[in-house]
Amino acid sequence: MLKGIAITGSGSAVPATTLDNQLLTQLVETSDEWITTRTGISQRRISLPTESLSILATTAGKQAIAAAGITAADIDLILLATSTPDDLFGSACRIQAELGATKAVAFDLTAACSGFVFGLVTAAQYIRTGVYQNVLLIGGDILSRWVDWQDRRTCILFGDGAGAVVLQSNESDRLLGFSLKSDGTQNHYLNLPYHGSAQELSPGINVTKGTYHPITMNGKEVYRFAVQKVPEVIDKALFQANITIDQIDWLILHQANQRILNAVAERLNIPEHKVISNVANYGNTSAASIPLALNEAVQQGKIKPHDIIATSGFGAGLTWGAAIFQWGR
Ligand code: UT7
Repeated sequence: MLKGIAITGSGSAVPATTLDNQLLTQLVETSDEWITTRTGISQRRISLPTESLSILATTAGKQAIAAAGITAADIDLILLATSTPDDLFGSACRIQAELGATKAVAFDLTAACSGFVFGLVTAAQYIRTGVYQNVLLIGGDILSRWVDWQDRRTCILFGDGAGAVVLQSNESDRLLGFSLKSDGTQNHYLNLPYHGSAQELSPGINVTKGTYHPITMNGKEVYRFAVQKVPEVIDKALFQANITIDQIDWLILHQANQRILNAVAERLNIPEHKVISNVANYGNTSAASIPLALNEAVQQGKIKPHDIIATSGFGAGLTWGAAIFQWGR
């Protein structure tokens, strides 16, 4: 039985509607100059009410399946990393139906902006234990639904999208190392919280009725956390993989802020030409950002078979993690 894993195909999808910095200046007191210099973001894609996470994720998933050279009927497991499902019970099963992945078991996984890296490692465990052979991992989010469009500290950052990869059992194990972390004591720095008020059912028995409230973030603390913890966790994953920093061909970080990408690369001594970035065009797309950047780089012919990629996700939870893998079989 094959017990290694390979990442054999990728895909991505973004909504057609673009929201540029200039447009944001009509909503909040900000400027293109502030947003560009503090974040590197020029524009982001926004889902219209007629669009959905399931549609974006299905499109990305279809591309990844085709790129891997298999069919939806071959998929054993669909993992949807998201914090913004169309249905709180999960959206993975809707995607399974849309894809016609009849034999696949499907479920959602929530780890915010770390969701793709956590999903990658989760998928790998099922393959390494011989339980499944073909896994579709999708990272997707529609954070525009949950942004406070009057809060200039957050509304300038986020965008919508989905990215996907297919992982398959393989003779050689291309997942070389990983490390995953959580620290709930810092949970209050980044939230999309449920708020409700008591509704009395009968004397002494109350239930809560409410909804989720827009994203709140302490940007400075999250920035500080990312710049410190991401290089550490990449170092841990590299140590586990038994490879050195100069052997890395590409660094694909969660696309949160260009300044974070630059600071992490600098701390790790990774030259600029190895850093993949598309944050200028899409903003922070949460669980989608890594597979979106990965797929673009594959499409552009930058990433070639057996290139060594270091990836790291970080965000709400707080959660963070890194994986070192080689592209292709
Ligand atoms: O995916 C999850 C991970 N999330 C992140 O990685 C986010 C990490 N944090 C960041 O990227 C940065 O902290 C931000 C981009 C969110 C903010 O950048 P900053 O350099 O930390 O700015 P700041 O929050 O310290 O704000 C500096 C000033 C403040 O004014 P005062 O108090 O100095 O007068 C803000 O009120 O900039 C002001 N400000 C703005 N001004 C114009 C905040 N947002 C804006 C804005 N336009 N959009």
